[in-house]
Amino acid sequence: MCGIVGYIGDKDAYPILIEGLIALEYRGYDSAGIALVNESALTVFKDKGKVDHLRTQMETQTKLGTLGISHTRWATHGAPSYKNAHPHTNGNDSLAVVHNGIIENFEILREKLKKEGITFKSETDSEVIAHLVGKYLTNGNLGAAVRRALQDIEGTFGIGVISRDNPDVLIGARRGSPLVVGIGEKEFFLASDASAIVRHTKKVIYLNDNNLIELARGGYRTTTLDNRKISHKIHNLEFDADSLAKGGYDHFMLKEIMEQTNTIKNAMRGRVLCDEGTARLDGLNLVLQELRQINRIIFVACGTSWHAALVGEYMLEELAGISVEVEYASEFRYRNPIIDPHTLVFVISQSGETADTLAAMREAQRKGATVLGICNVVGSSIARDTHGGVYLHAGPEIGVASTKAFTSQLTVISLLTLLLGRMRRLSHDDGVTIAGALEAVPRQVAKIFKQNDEIKTIAHIYAPHNNFLYLGRSYNFPVALEGALKLKEISYIHAEGYPAAEMKHGPIALIDKDMPSVVIALRDSVYDKVISNIQEVRARGGKIIAIATEKDKEIQKHAHHVIYVPKTIPMLSPLLSVIPLQLLAYHIAAIRGCEIDQPRNLAKSVTVE
Ligand code: AGP
Repeated sequence: MCGIVGYIGDKDAYPILIEGLIALEYRGYDSAGIALVNESALTVFKDKGKVDHLRTQMETQTKLGTLGISHTRWATHGAPSYKNAHPHTNGNDSLAVVHNGIIENFEILREKLKKEGITFKSETDSEVIAHLVGKYLTNGNLGAAVRRALQDIEGTFGIGVISRDNPDVLIGARRGSPLVVGIGEKEFFLASDASAIVRHTKKVIYLNDNNLIELARGGYRTTTLDNRKISHKIHNLEFDADSLAKGGYDHFMLKEIMEQTNTIKNAMRGRVLCDEGTARLDGLNLVLQELRQINRIIFVACGTSWHAALVGEYMLEELAGISVEVEYASEFRYRNPIIDPHTLVFVISQSGETADTLAAMREAQRKGATVLGICNVVGSSIARDTHGGVYLHAGPEIGVASTKAFTSQLTVISLLTLLLGRMRRLSHDDGVTIAGALEAVPRQVAKIFKQNDEIKTIAHIYAPHNNFLYLGRSYNFPVALEGALKLKEISYIHAEGYPAAEMKHGPIALIDKDMPSVVIALRDSVYDKVISNIQEVRARGGKIIAIATEKDKEIQKHAHHVIYVPKTIPMLSPLLSVIPLQLLAYHIAAIRGCEIDQPRNLAKSVTVE
């Protein structure tokens, strides 16, 4: 996944482009580049490394033009290098292209173009776009040349194109990769997501697949790839520039962990009906009778979103009496799933752009399923291509390791459970209890934050270890998986999450004094069983970090360290038990000096398969 920014207007383009790339670095950061048109000259600056390296390269440059495109890359074809960095140019370097996506037929196109005398400068798939546009740019109409070029492309793209021979137009087009257009006062912006342009304008339009936009200095025109004129609604962005700042924290991840007292509130705002003991989710776009007919739900997701879905399975089966399956999107899309008219498919995705989840959504739709989305990014592909859904309203999640999105997903699924449960066997009183417990969660989360220093102390003790086991049962088995993923992805420590009882069927062979276990041992129906598992680990010399229910003294006899969370109902306990695991992973990674917000090899949204 990559980040794209484009600008056309009356200002110097360079500062706008470089600042936009910084905001998009979470999308990929192994190389970066900028192309600018000034009068009839096209200049390209690019290199391996992060945007800051590019900025250093360009700091002496001034007045490079008021039209430009820029790109920060997450390598898919061709290793991170100067030659593979975007922008890519055509043969005579008269035009430049930046691309986010995957061109499935690039080898065929590359061979065909080579036979026509084209010499390629990179190993990337994206470069073929530059040469195709150059090939079709015969009458000076850049928009027409791009439309024609994209008709040869199979695969996904979000692109920006500029040409020295067309100094008054910026072209954008998309299929399968996001592209948002900022509408300014006599200036226009192009970006992979709005965080790159919100400082300049809050008026945006979201291009749809197979849309192309021609941005000129006085106006714009949008068409389909076969040149049919189309129009778009202008949206107003809900967030502002300072929501993107780190807010005084060392990392976006810590800021986003600490935001959860508010983001959980935002996820339930206007949706919890305490007196009736139910919830309202108008965005589902399904009438109550349709929801009543549902007897099976399939959740499809990846990574942390898949863990949230797994918690949802426990919630919905226990409290709504609906059969639930949880599928990895990458597996679901290639299986032959059975979907009948009473099956509802939910795709869960913070970014709304994860390629596997998008593909799984389309596969479910091909089978006639009603597919709903649970997303965070407004206007994202999944949000726009599903029948309906529920936004998290968590604000931009910049840290690659998902935290606030996870608890917001759990909150939304809790609301869904309440709504569907109260349409079935969940009583008014039970509904009121759940609604009240949900309303209490934000202040309970705030209480856990008070143990941040204790968690940091534990992190210092265990940061040197290179293997961890995370154990949990019932609602907290998925939380064990999530805690392990958090540690893995930001500290590069090998951590495995397991159902606590399953540990006896293999992983216990790994236990020794050098492999600590983090065990979620809340005062619930499986507490005694978890204590037995803790004793099995201790008997093999394993150290125990327990997540326990406040006031539980018994646990102190069994665990070396205890982090307490407030008491809540079982279905909501993951919203609390995950908080110490997020903080533990964060502090261990910080102590190990890891790149927390942009971990190696990862990207915030995996828009490639
Ligand atoms: C979570 O910390 C990871 N960054 C990753 O597993 C992520 O949850 C996954 O890629 C799914 O992303 P999505 O929710 O945007 O679809």
